[in-house]
Amino acid sequence: MVKLIVKENYSAMSKEAFNIFRGRFDSARVLGFATGSTPLKLYELISEEARSGRISFEGKLTFNLDEYCGVDPFDSASFRHYMDHNLFLNVNMNPNSIHFPDSKSDPKTAAKQYREEYLRYGPIDLQILGIGRNGHIAFNEPGAMPDSVTRVVELSDDTLRVNMPKGNKAVTMGIKEILESRTILLLASGKEKGLALRKALRDSPNTAVPASFLQMHDDVTFVMDEEAASMLDA
Ligand code: GLP
Repeated sequence: MVKLIVKENYSAMSKEAFNIFRGRFDSARVLGFATGSTPLKLYELISEEARSGRISFEGKLTFNLDEYCGVDPFDSASFRHYMDHNLFLNVNMNPNSIHFPDSKSDPKTAAKQYREEYLRYGPIDLQILGIGRNGHIAFNEPGAMPDSVTRVVELSDDTLRVNMPKGNKAVTMGIKEILESRTILLLASGKEKGLALRKALRDSPNTAVPASFLQMHDDVTFVMDEEAASMLDA
């Protein structure tokens, strides 16, 4: 059952997402995070909550959805750098409890090792998601199967154009692992996500729009602003 919440703008959407995240945070041990521009305000709000001492990341484990292959984790182009500077360094997160695909080792080895870490410490209790303009979630691009698991992927031309990574490969968690999360919170903002959201929510689950498989989950909330929701009933 997909719950849909539409707020007037990006700031209000982020505050709503924070309220939902906060409500589930205490009972969640394993947290799943996404990168990209959409969750930045949410991570700022979580960082403020932690700095104020109102929440603690003590005892939490984190898994990120994806990471580029061949990038140094300290390079500003890496998703690890993004997470460190937008969240992890702002909260009392134990670095040994942060899980990322190993971007420095052979991609296939990194994917195998990350899958093994997930099987050992997962599933995710509370998963934050964004959505790509082509309906991808994590780096499960159009064509991804609902039973897909952590693997190496070639990035689509659209993703390469938008993200402009240094390489064209990434390690991503699969749709199966995302659907194994206890609770999913997807954030979306802006007109450019309108078509992807309409297909994800109005079409029946299909591989052309990986986000449409989220309809199969029993506790998923889509939080979006009015621009992102503008094509839902077109
Ligand atoms: C990237 C990430 C996704 C993210 C998507 C949207 O492809 N792999 O996890 O959801 O971009 O990013 P943005 O929020 O910047 O639109």
